[in-house]
Amino acid sequence: GKAKLHKQKRLSTRAMPWCGRCNAIDAMRVLLLVAVSAVCSALRYSAVLPSPNPRAPVNNDARGRIRRRIGRIDKSELGGRVFFKPGDDAPPRKEWHRVLRGPLSVRIVAADLPSYATRAGVLPSVPDATNLADAILEHTEWSAALDAWSAFGNAVTAPLPAHVRCKRHTTAVWAPAGISPPLRRALALRLPEALTPEPRRERAAVEIQVTLHEEGVLVELLALKQRMDRDLPCPGFRRLESYVVAQAARIKPGDVVLDPFCGKATFLAEAQLCWPGASVIGVDSDPAQLDAAANNLGSNATLLHGSATALPLEDGSVDAVVSCPPFDRQYTAQDGLDALYAKSFSEMRRVLRPTGRASLLLDEKSLEIAQRHWPGLCVLGTMPLGPWVRTVLCAWPDGDAWETWDRKAW
Ligand SMILES: C[S@@+](CC[C@H](N)C(=O)[O-])C[C@H]1O[C@@H](n2cnc3c(N)ncnc32)[C@H](O)[C@@H]1O
Repeated sequence: GKAKLHKQKRLSTRAMPWCGRCNAIDAMRVLLLVAVSAVCSALRYSAVLPSPNPRAPVNNDARGRIRRRIGRIDKSELGGRVFFKPGDDAPPRKEWHRVLRGPLSVRIVAADLPSYATRAGVLPSVPDATNLADAILEHTEWSAALDAWSAFGNAVTAPLPAHVRCKRHTTAVWAPAGISPPLRRALALRLPEALTPEPRRERAAVEIQVTLHEEGVLVELLALKQRMDRDLPCPGFRRLESYVVAQAARIKPGDVVLDPFCGKATFLAEAQLCWPGASVIGVDSDPAQLDAAANNLGSNATLLHGSATALPLEDGSVDAVVSCPPFDRQYTAQDGLDALYAKSFSEMRRVLRPTGRASLLLDEKSLEIAQRHWPGLCVLGTMPLGPWVRTVLCAWPDGDAWETWDRKAW
């Protein structure tokens, strides 16, 4: 009864400016709204991280990498994502793609409406698709998000065809089940002028992902069309694996880098991307693989059709070898691995300069054969790749690979 009476009095608040309780409620509402708009206005990013094992929710190494290279991680995960704000000294956004390892995708957070937005009346407490769409769109920072989107190298044409995706976590008890399809349509019809709805995802320039979760609503724009780990025209190894191998060879600007079993040249593409100024040489016995390699590599690359067992290169002309020789799974060796490793490893040693480094990716079975034919090869570490384990081996003239290698790279 007391509350009802107060509500009635409150309806005539203007006539009761002295009411302390109403003033306190108004102050709280204002504070909540300020807090909501502060959350909305800080442009943040989220990275979707792969999970190395089913029990670990996100990849901690990838999370650490974002923190070191891009900036502060300011919130823990939501469905495999970590959120971060770029630090002042973060590299330009176009380069994030190059410096980040591990995340599958990077998204621009255009609105993050937490659960107290419902209490503050920003989000309807019992939403239907139309009023929820209105509330979401009103608090989405479109221009900032689209500016950030174009800073990733995306071309802006007006209006941009946008595809809206909507996902409701079952924990979002505040939103009715089944709201996602009508909400998606309602959002698409209410997009700002700069965007035009595109029902087919593959035709859209920009992808908007709306997530209704336990804590509220998240609106994100996919910063890069391709997944971070599979962004080459002809994907081969995952980028993280390629990076680990290339990083183990300690490539320096100006180095000549060789892959004598180059395949689609994913290792060399990674070397080119991470160490601009390195010139790369790929050799493969399969012309189809060399065609794919040509698609993946930029300029300053030489591709040669030939055999790793008789390299068409001068003695001491290469600074670093990065490679994944066949190990009797997808690729076999006609005369057996023993013969292939004996000849090709001796060729690699011949073409390497005395200061040269080699980094190879092998499986557990072929390790022993490899070490027999190159005693200087040391095991840097193993990498769990789904059902397999791959080992990175390295040979350096000073033999200190194990001590100085940056294990955090993966
Ligand atoms: C495991 S794959 C390498 C994958 C490659 N690192 C990539 O990024 O796609 C092995 C490659 O060795 C090539 N190959 C097999 N025997 C060879 C030989 N004797 N000389 C040169 N290349 C050979 C195969 O055609 C295949 O492309």
